[in-house]
Amino acid sequence: MLEKMSDFFEARLDGYDEHMMTNIEYSSEFYPFTAKQLPTAENCCILDLGCGTGLELQEYYKLNSSAKVTGIDLSQGMLTELQRKFVGKNITLILDSYFDVPLGENVFDAAVSVESLHHFTKEEKIPLYAKLHTALKENGYFILTDYFSLSDDEEEMHRQNLIALKTEQGITDDEFYHYDTPLTVKHEIEALLEAGFSNVEVLNHWGATYTVKAVK
Ligand SMILES: C[S@@+](CC[C@H](N)C(=O)[O-])C[C@H]1O[C@@H](n2cnc3c(N)ncnc32)[C@H](O)[C@@H]1O
Repeated sequence: MLEKMSDFFEARLDGYDEHMMTNIEYSSEFYPFTAKQLPTAENCCILDLGCGTGLELQEYYKLNSSAKVTGIDLSQGMLTELQRKFVGKNITLILDSYFDVPLGENVFDAAVSVESLHHFTKEEKIPLYAKLHTALKENGYFILTDYFSLSDDEEEMHRQNLIALKTEQGITDDEFYHYDTPLTVKHEIEALLEAGFSNVEVLNHWGATYTVKAVK
């Protein structure tokens, strides 16, 4: 049965960090690597799309404890856990979908997203990435670490599986349900370029998990 996105993560909150750090391959490498790509300037402004309990921020604060972070997530439980971890940090949390939250213009030095955007199609991502592009300052950039399909066939298989499950369960498209539908890296890069980013490159990868940097 498909579960609503926020219900899915609320239900798995207990032991979430431990699960990510022990069962997700290479997590002990990709979280520090992702954090290392973010700016170290004092008081810089960072946006985290799908921040969850803040695993990437945990690593980032070791490198820049003064950063001003805005984190967006659909799950209240994840945000409460994040807040509990980072008492005293300059952090603004928004309980909402990043597709719906206005992000402003020239606000952030950088943005980051880890393991959150593999639920959405290229068509859904382009307007989100265009909004993100506007919200970044000049020379700002986006660091995306996520897992990807390794072929067009794999991407299509995930998408068709989701469509079949939604049809079977009478689910319409107006709410997010949890099901992984990773794009290929090629399609992700196309979405970022179509949204207006000037330069997009792969910085590293561990199996199917890639870190991509998109510069405004
Ligand atoms: C696998 S967790 C990753 C959390 C964190 N970035 C990490 O790596 O541990 C995915 C997170 O994305 C959030 N999420 C999924 N879709 C979202 C959306 N449309 N808007 C905001 N958050 C979303 C979920 O609630 C969940 O907390």
